[in-house]
Parts: sequence; C-alpha cells; structure tokens
Amino acid sequence: MDQLSQLHTGISILEMTYIIASILFIFGLKMLSHPLTARRGNAIAAIGMVLAIIATILFHHKDGKPIGNVGFILVAIGIGSVIGLIIAKRVKMTAMPQLVSFFNGMGGAAAALISMMEFPHVSPELIAKSGMANGHVLAILLGLMIGTVSWAGSMIAFGKLDGWIGDMRIKAMKYVNLTILTVLIGFIVYIMTRHVQASSELTPLIYIMFFIAVIYGVLFVMPIGGADMPVVISLLNSFTGVAAAMGGFLYNNQAMLTGGILVGSAGTILTILMCRAMNRSLLNVIVGVFGGGGQTNIAAAGSVKEISISDASILLSYSKKVVIVPGYGLAVAQAQHICHELDKLLEKKGVEVKYAIHPVAGRMPGHMNVLLAEADVPYEQLIESDEINPDLPNTDVLVVIGANDVVNPAAEDDPSSPIYGMPIIKARDAKNIIVMKRGMGKGYAAIENMLFFNNKTRMLFGDAKSTLQNLVNEIKSL
Ligand code: TAP
Repeated sequence: MDQLSQLHTGISILEMTYIIASILFIFGLKMLSHPLTARRGNAIAAIGMVLAIIATILFHHKDGKPIGNVGFILVAIGIGSVIGLIIAKRVKMTAMPQLVSFFNGMGGAAAALISMMEFPHVSPELIAKSGMANGHVLAILLGLMIGTVSWAGSMIAFGKLDGWIGDMRIKAMKYVNLTILTVLIGFIVYIMTRHVQASSELTPLIYIMFFIAVIYGVLFVMPIGGADMPVVISLLNSFTGVAAAMGGFLYNNQAMLTGGILVGSAGTILTILMCRAMNRSLLNVIVGVFGGGGQTNIAAAGSVKEISISDASILLSYSKKVVIVPGYGLAVAQAQHICHELDKLLEKKGVEVKYAIHPVAGRMPGHMNVLLAEADVPYEQLIESDEINPDLPNTDVLVVIGANDVVNPAAEDDPSSPIYGMPIIKARDAKNIIVMKRGMGKGYAAIENMLFFNNKTRMLFGDAKSTLQNLVNEIKSL
C-alpha cells in the first residue's frame, strides 16, 4: 500500500470510528434516562469515548503527518483517569453536584485551552486552505469565551456547594455582568474584522479576552443562591458542550462535535425542565432572589396536631395503601435505608407501599431516585408525581418524610406565593397525612406550608432517621 492510500484508509477508519462513537454516545444518553439502564448507558457512552480517543491517536493526520507526542498524551490520559477514578470512588452521594460541577469545569478549561493554542496558528494561508475563513476564527473565539466562562463559573459553583464560598449579592451586579458580556462580544467582533491582516498581532488580545471571561464567569455565578446551583451547573454544563462542539468544528472531528452538541442540548433541556418543575424562569434563577413572601395566614390556620409513634404505627399497619413522599430532609437525615426497611415491613403485612417522586424534590436532578436506589428500593415502587396524583384520594396514609415545598398547596391556592404554579404532589387529597420533620422549619422556598395545618394531617416531629427507626421497632412489636 503506498503512502497515499494508507492515509486514505487511515482517514476513512477514523471517520468510521467517529460515527460509531457518536452512535454509542446517543444510545448511551438515551439509556441514561431510565434508572434500570443508566449504568449500562454510561458504560456504552464511555466505550464510544475510548474508541474515539484510540482512533484519533492511531489515525489522525495533520498535513499528512500522524500526531506526535503520543507518549505525553498517554501519560496525561493515565494521570487524568487515575485522579478521576479516585475522586469518583470516594465522593459521597450528597457531594455529587460538586463533583459534576468540578468535572464540567475541566471540560470548559480544555475547550478554552484548545482555542488559546490554536489562535496563534491561524494565518491567512491556513484560512484560505481550510476554506472556512471566518468560521474557523469564530469557532476559536466562541470556544475560548464559552469554555472559560464555564470553567470559572463551575469552579465558583463547586466552592459554593462545598460551603467555602458564600453568596455575594450586589444590586448592580446584573448591569456589571451585562457590561462585561458586551465587552467580550466587542472583542470577538474586533478580532473577527482584523484577523486576516494581522492574526499574530492579535494574539495578546486572546489572553485579555480569557481574563475578562474568567471575571465574567465568577461574577455570573457569585450572586446565585446556593440551592439554585443545580440549575446553574446544568446551564454551565450546556456551555461546556457548546465550547467542545466548537473544538469539533475546528478540528473537523465528528465525535467531538456530536459529543459537544449532545452535552449542550441535554444540559439545556435539563435546565429548562428543572426551571419548569420549579415554575421559575431561568432569568429568575440567575438574577432573582428566591423565597419568602406569600399571604399565608398562620394565625387563621390554627395549630398543628401531632401523632405518637404507636398511633402512627397502628395507622400504617392497618392501611391498605400507603404512599411515601421523600424530600430533601430524607437525604439530610440519610434515612433512605431505614425508610426501605419500613416499606418492606409494611408490605409483609399486606400493605401496598409506593413512593411519590417529585422531579425537584431534594437538591439535584433525580436526587430521590438516586437516594432510594442506594437503599435498593425497587424502581417499580417509584411513581412520578403526575402519575400518582390521581391515585391519592384512594390512599389511606400519605407519609411525608423531610419534604415540604413539593407538597405545599400554596402552589395551587396562593397566587402571591413564589411557588404558585409549581406542579406539586397533591398530598392533601389522601385520606390521612403523616408529616415527619424535625420542627416547623421551612423548606427551600422559605414559606409556610398549610398542609401541616390540614385537618387530616398529623405531625411526627424528630430527625427522620430516628423517627423511622422508632416506627420500625414499634411496628415489629405490634
Ligand atoms: P424542602 O422544601 O427543602 O424541605 C425540606 C424539609 O426537610 C424542611 O422543611 C426541613 O424541616 C426538613 N428536614 C431537614 N432536615 C431534616 C431531618 N434531618 N429530618 C427530618 N426532616 C428534615 O424539600 P423538598 O420538598 O424536597 O423540596 C425541594 C426544594 O428544593 C424545592 O423548592 C425545589 O424547587 C428546590 N430545588 C430543587 C432542586 C432539584 S434539582 N432537586 C434544585 C434547586 C432547588 P425541619 O427543619 O422542620 O426539619
């Protein structure tokens, strides 16, 4: 085989592998949407990525030459893989949002570095040869801006979630941010109009742009409330995807392009779904101060009624249908295992037990699914709120464990409430309601919950884990 045909075979194998890798990414992503297939989906997408990396190292050619520095590349991949593996193995379930944020930031940084490396190589000759003219430079500049914002923003989000960076709310912040964004766009326009004549002289501007984008990323995330971070992380995730897709354009790399577009679109869809499930606009998440307010008249609501452990255990044991509504407090108390023990105990007694899962219960997407999966609760027992709501009037006892906002009827009754319009689990439709929480503390939205004052509601105060343990002991002794 002469050199030319070898090159041709190499290129076609490379393109073929990128297409296979892209298909694996798509199938993997699809499988992530169900808990039963999610693990396999993750593995399939990872196989796609490994294939794309191996094919690039073996078959990618630039100006007719294979890629160099293979030793360095393999060492870097080895170090990165070991660090990633150790972090992922050690991380606690509750620290998962931080981890996602950190890894996402690394993706943004990689995209920004690609742009900084490639810009000095842009020459009028290269542009004429690639036939992409402005597209080439635009991909570099957008990759730099979006990748840097994603990296800097993700690092701040990581710090906030880990508790070593607090909120910083300054009234004029949104105007400052808007000004910085305008300056960044100004840089892009200026470089785009001048690069053909003076590409090498413009390189310092790229570094200035990088520093301004870092400042923008920091100031963009700083004012956002800590608990809104999952939405912001998902948004930054989509930024990283777009920045990586720019790299795909630049290197004419289909796997990078598809991967970037998939991350970008999946992140955008997740951001929209989270905002919709909280009935808030993205703008409200980014610039709004959330929580408080509403017109709940606690004085008129009367007082709450409590239930003892023994009465609660009798009520539950002699029910036909029980629905458990898990919330953020269940995760805080790490009460998922004892909760599953309770449901198994009740099922043994012939009680049908289901879990009502609200899409934004907890503090991260799929929080309750992951938490209950950790305790081996069968997936068939987890029912989405839309699906379980019509069944609640036939439910003998609904047990709210550490949930608050997701069962708050203000979402349906009070137009002045910050959660008005948010789809909820219609807990008040059940025949009896038991609420387990430590006291009368508010939820994430910082508003009162009239469900606790409902005639059918009985409060079971205490930490969810110890309350559930007492309940299990009591039911066993019945
Ligand atoms: P929340 O409304 O946050 O209420 C949690 C309740 O758990 C609190 O009222 C607290 O009351 C109780 N609690 C805390 N620690 C406890 C413990 N150790 N034992 C027993 N109870 C405990 O939770 P939710 O109903 O799951 O709603 C989630 C909220 O977070 C929604 O407003 C949602 O919009 C928001 N949010 C969600 C996400 C995602 S993606 N899931 C992202 C951002 C924001 P006490 O202090 O009285 O115990």
